[in-house]
Amino acid sequence: TAAAPDLLLGRIRDIPDFPRPGVLFKDITPLLNDPAALAAAVAGLAAPFRGAGVDHVVGLEARGFIFGAPVALELGAGFVPARKAGKLPASVIGQPYDLEYGTATVEIHADAVSPGSRVLIVDDVLATGGTGRAAVDLVRKAGGTVVGFSVLMELTALPGREKLSDVEPHALLAV
Ligand code: PRP
Ligand code: MG
Repeated sequence: TAAAPDLLLGRIRDIPDFPRPGVLFKDITPLLNDPAALAAAVAGLAAPFRGAGVDHVVGLEARGFIFGAPVALELGAGFVPARKAGKLPASVIGQPYDLEYGTATVEIHADAVSPGSRVLIVDDVLATGGTGRAAVDLVRKAGGTVVGFSVLMELTALPGREKLSDVEPHALLAV
């Protein structure tokens, strides 16, 4: 069943001037703290990928962890954390990406995604698409097949969808 958009939208709080003046931050913590909204979000993120043979769900640090693990449970898949550089203890594969100022690197364990396995990437927000692009490229570098990129919300004023046109992101909400 499709998540009722109003149930989710009504639990996302606008915070003006966070983290910087001029930025309107979309705060999902009220949604996370509402059992019906949380369940609807997880179900909606997973729904298009039921029957898609997903082996691993890759969740993107930090907010993608919150949704990624329950989506993996829903799909009967394993969960793989994609972390910011230096956090994972074993051998890693990394992919750099651009930030507003400077660059960052996202990493997964080198043995987490076996070649040929089917991977769904999960995060909370698609904004510029930099994080998602890096995650897709990272999974492919590891030999995985990206079957989708599922996010709670897409910020349509930004070009994230274009940057991920090869993946056709699935967004529950467009804001
Ligand atoms: C935020 C958000 C997405 C990303 C989207 O993460 O959770 O992961 O930005 O932006 P983009 O499409 O422009 O890359 P952030 O790096 O702020 O950190 P967090 O998840 O650890 O809070
Ligand atoms: Mg994030």
